[in-house]
Amino acid sequence: MNSKQPIPFISSSSHFHFLFYALVIFLAFNNISASYSGGNETDYHALLNIRSLITKDPYGALTSWNNSLYFCDWAGITCGKRHRRVTSLRLLSQGLEGFLSPHLGNLSFLRVLVLYNNSFQGAIPHEVGRLSKLRLLSLYNNKFNAVIPVKISGCSNLEKLDLSNNELVGSIPKEISFLSKLTFLSLGSNKLTSGIPSFLGNLTLMEKFGVVNNPLGGSIPDTLGYWKNLKLFDAGILT
Ligand SMILES: *[C@@H]1O[C@H](CO)[C@@H](O)[C@H](O)[C@H]1NC(C)=O
Ligand SMILES: *[C@@H]1O[C@H](CO)[C@@H](O)[C@H](O)[C@H]1NC(C)=O
Ligand SMILES: *[C@@H]1O[C@H](CO)[C@@H](O)[C@H](O)[C@H]1NC(C)=O
Ligand SMILES: *[C@@H]1O[C@H](CO)[C@@H](O)[C@H](O)[C@H]1NC(C)=O
Ligand SMILES: *[C@@H]1O[C@H](CO)[C@@H](O)[C@H](O)[C@H]1NC(C)=O
Ligand SMILES: *[C@@H]1O[C@H](CO)[C@@H](O)[C@H](O)[C@H]1NC(C)=O
Repeated sequence: MNSKQPIPFISSSSHFHFLFYALVIFLAFNNISASYSGGNETDYHALLNIRSLITKDPYGALTSWNNSLYFCDWAGITCGKRHRRVTSLRLLSQGLEGFLSPHLGNLSFLRVLVLYNNSFQGAIPHEVGRLSKLRLLSLYNNKFNAVIPVKISGCSNLEKLDLSNNELVGSIPKEISFLSKLTFLSLGSNKLTSGIPSFLGNLTLMEKFGVVNNPLGGSIPDTLGYWKNLKLFDAGILT
């Protein structure tokens, strides 16, 4: 119980061993954590999951997505300078094939998502609606072949949405009309049906709107007359 008594069994040599192992453990831990140190582990895991659902990468666009680099330095990734969260994911024209991971919704600081001209298929995950800071979502020229997720209304800061040239089915969800900052909406060349919803008239900042090449049917609703900033309207044949 006498705290002044020296601890008897630690020699200077075991001190040395202790320090040596502590250093090894420190270095090993440093290596393992290199890919997310200083950033957010959630972003790192989301990116790994996104990578895991990409089945073909013909030009090696994701070669740098490995643990020798910090994830903010991976190709196509931009992080905020201060908080080191992913703010932009841009992988365009890379011939990527596969599915878009729902873990995308965990990149909660994402402002720009650009994956146009690849071969993503399946659904645009509804978790995209968790990206409340997203301003630009560009997925044109892919093979998405499900419905437009109604949860997209959660992207309350979205300014530009381009889903043209896919195989999207179903109707244009009226939830798109909650995206009050939208200035650009392009849904051309899909398989959308059930007309242009009149609620879209609520998007009063609309500048460019395209729905050409869809079997939409119906007529152009009067409410689109609220679009005072309109510069381009491309509805093509609505039948
Ligand atoms: C740390 O990583 C480098 C390169 O990836 C490797 O050469 C080295 O052996 C690693 N060190 C430890 C302690 O794991
Ligand atoms: C990482 O981000 C998630 C989601 O925004 C948050 O819940 C978590 O607390 C963050 N972790 C750190 C270490 O910042
Ligand atoms: C990891 O990324 C670096 C940087 O792009 C690259 O030079 C290296 O070949 C990659 N390693 C693997 C195993 O792909
Ligand atoms: C689309 O991507 C391919 C590479 O996969 C490229 O060769 C082609 O030029 C791109 N097309 C456009 C319109 O950007
Ligand atoms: C990320 O997203 C997925 C799917 O949306 C979820 O299952 C997971 O718990 C989320 N959180 C983290 C920290 O990975
Ligand atoms: C659109 O605006 C009208 C009134 O201007 C409102 O009643 C309606 O709920 C709004 N709809 C949507 C889907 O935002």
